[in-house]
Amino acid sequence: MTRQNAGQGRAPQAPDPRADLVLQVRDLHYAYPPLHEGDEFVDVLRGVDLDLHPGEFVSVMGPTGAGKTTLALALNGIVPRSTGGRYRGEVLVHGASTKEHEVAELAPSVGVVFQDPETQLFCMSVEDEVAFGMENLGVPAPQMRTRLAEALALVGMSEYRTRSPRQLSGGQKQRVAIAAVLAMRPSVIVLDEPTSGLDPIGKHEVFSVVEQLRREHSIAVVMIEHECDQIAQFSDRVLLLEAGRVITEGPPADVFYDQEAVARAGVCIPQVAEVATELNALTGSAHRFLTVADAFVGLHDQEVA
Ligand SMILES: Nc1ncnc2c1ncn2[C@@H]1O[C@H](COP(=O)(O)OP(=O)(O)O)[C@@H](O)[C@H]1O
Ligand SMILES: [Mg+2]
Repeated sequence: MTRQNAGQGRAPQAPDPRADLVLQVRDLHYAYPPLHEGDEFVDVLRGVDLDLHPGEFVSVMGPTGAGKTTLALALNGIVPRSTGGRYRGEVLVHGASTKEHEVAELAPSVGVVFQDPETQLFCMSVEDEVAFGMENLGVPAPQMRTRLAEALALVGMSEYRTRSPRQLSGGQKQRVAIAAVLAMRPSVIVLDEPTSGLDPIGKHEVFSVVEQLRREHSIAVVMIEHECDQIAQFSDRVLLLEAGRVITEGPPADVFYDQEAVARAGVCIPQVAEVATELNALTGSAHRFLTVADAFVGLHDQEVA
C-alpha cells in the first residue's frame, strides 16, 4: 500500500496511544540456560509487561531473585543476546525489537547503570570515562566535546573532569557513570540498584540527578531500587515484581497502600505510609500520605475541618 492510498475508503483511525512509547515489554518470559547439560531451565521472568512513555519515571521493586536485574538486561537486549537461554515475548525500543537489533545498536537508546560504580569506571580520568562510549559509537570529535561538557554539567560534575574516578565519592562515581550513559543521548535510562552501596548523601545525589533528567530532558527512567521513601516521592508508577511476575502496578499512593502486595513482594513502605495506615485504623480516616509534606498538609486540613 502506498502512502497516497493508505486508509482510503476507511473511517479515519484514532491516533495510536502506543505510538510515542519509548519502550514496550510484551509478555516477556525468560529462563537462563541450565548450568549443567540435562538440567531443567529455571524460569526467571514469567510474563512481564511494561510500557514506558517519554519522561516517565517507573520504579521496580521486589525481593532478591525476583528477576529485576534480568529484566534490566532484557531492556537493551543483553538478555538473551549475550546470555542465551529460553526467551518468549518481546521487548521493543522505539518499536524496534531487541531480537532483531544488536546490543550496540540499542545501547544509545537504552542506557544501563549498574549497582557498583567500581565495575563501571575504568578510565584514568572522568572525561575519558564519559567519552569512552561515544568513541565506540564513532561520534565525531567536535560533537563529542559538546556532549561531554553537557553530560558532566547535567550531573553536576564539570569541575571534576580531569580527576581520576578513584578520587571520587560513591555518589560522584555513580553520577559519572550516569554522565557516560547520558552522553549517548538515550531516551531511556535503566538504573539497577544504583544507590545500594551509597551513603544517604550519595543516594540523594543520584535520585536528584535522575529526577532532573526526566523533568528537564524527558528521559524515561526505569529505577530498580529498595529506597521506598525516594521511590514514593519520585515515581509516576511502581511495579512490584515477585518470582518473575508483576504482582501489582500503579501510582505509588496505590501500590504502597496495597498491603497484601507489599507483604508478598517483601518491600519496605515509606514510614509516613505506615503512620497513615495506623492512623486510618485508629480513627477511620483514609489518609494516603507518601511524604512528610503530604502528611503535614493532610493532617492540617483534617484539623481545620
Ligand atoms: N547468569 C545467570 N545464570 C543463571 N541463573 C541466573 C543468572 N543470573 C541470575 N540468575 C538467577 O535468576 C534469578 C533472578 O535473578 P536476578 O534477575 O538477578 O534477580 P534480582 O535482581 O531481582 O535479585 C535468580 O534465581 C538468579 O539466581
Ligand atoms: Mg539484582
